Amino acid sequence: LENFKPEQTADDLVKTIFNYIKHISRLKDFDEIIMTLADMGRDLVGADRATVWLVDEGKKTIWTKVAHGVDRIEVPSGSGIVGCAIQMGEHILINDAYNDERFDKTVDKKTGYETRNIMTIPFRDADDKVIGAFQAINKMTGTGYFTDKDMEHLNLAALYLGSEISSLLLRLEIENTQKEIIFTMAEVGEMRSKETGNHVRRVAEYSKILALGLGMTELESELLKMASPMHDIGKVAIPDAVLLKPGKLDEEEFKIMKSHAYSGYKMLHHSDRRILRAAATIAYEHHEKWNGKGYPRRLSGEEIHIFGRITAIADVFDALGSDRVYKDAWELDRILNLFREEKGEHFDPNLIDVFFENLDEILHIRDKYKDIYK
Ligand SMILES: [Fe+2]
Ligand SMILES: [Fe+2]
Repeated sequence: LENFKPEQTADDLVKTIFNYIKHISRLKDFDEIIMTLADMGRDLVGADRATVWLVDEGKKTIWTKVAHGVDRIEVPSGSGIVGCAIQMGEHILINDAYNDERFDKTVDKKTGYETRNIMTIPFRDADDKVIGAFQAINKMTGTGYFTDKDMEHLNLAALYLGSEISSLLLRLEIENTQKEIIFTMAEVGEMRSKETGNHVRRVAEYSKILALGLGMTELESELLKMASPMHDIGKVAIPDAVLLKPGKLDEEEFKIMKSHAYSGYKMLHHSDRRILRAAATIAYEHHEKWNGKGYPRRLSGEEIHIFGRITAIADVFDALGSDRVYKDAWELDRILNLFREEKGEHFDPNLIDVFFENLDEILHIRDKYKDIYK
């Protein structure tokens, strides 16, 4: 028989709860909050692992995020022990998993992990609706079995956190809706110039890689990622004759084309939303050049907002690598040579270094969101 650590005292538990609540209140990232809640659940009951599962009503699924950098796991509502607990709105305590038919042993077989006991506790929002569940696996303290006391403790945490989590879910819903609207808007802009939806997706990802590489925070980099797809939204105001003209534009046409930067800015800058304000700046400044020879305002160097400087690199890199009405796609080497030449001219020299440092990841994105030609 294994030796388990002694059971936590009431003092320990209070400390655990206070430490986590203090910590959680400082977190902003949704996934991080969910994972920290899971850690808290684990420490409260002395489990080896714990997971927070959440209900997605629209999709009729339950989902969780297990670890940093790991994509979410999503299964149909009602699957497994968690699904069952959520559907019934009741806790499920299994202390001998291998002799319980509700437990699916195939998961352990795949991972090599040995599940002994499982405790699942649903949590509810302010309207008493079940919105998710805590699941704790393998008791590591006391007798090695989850007790009624453990259940009480986790239940208290669930009770306390229910409303917190439901407001988090609401925030996530709003954020996801915002993201979708923004992408759709951006795609509308690009569709008019016959660019693919993947162009904005790639520009978004490249921008985030460059931002992180530059040392910007996750939050700021994510903001840029959401805003950068809208760089050409002002093109909705450009007539087709100019936008879709094959070959070179004459002087007058080019003047019209260049107006998309200011049009985009005008469309967006009245908003109070951070994302849209960032997008306004990007629309306005993504054609400025480090050497001051860009448009529309001929800003130079750090006068150009960092979001504008980053999006410029992401956009040009992607545009050169794609077929457009007026040109064929360039080979990668030719693009990289141009980037070296334009370091300190078109582009922020510092950012060009970051670009080359992160080239592997950038090329990975290029592959992942390849255009599929019909
Ligand atoms: Fe543009
Ligand atoms: Fe673009």
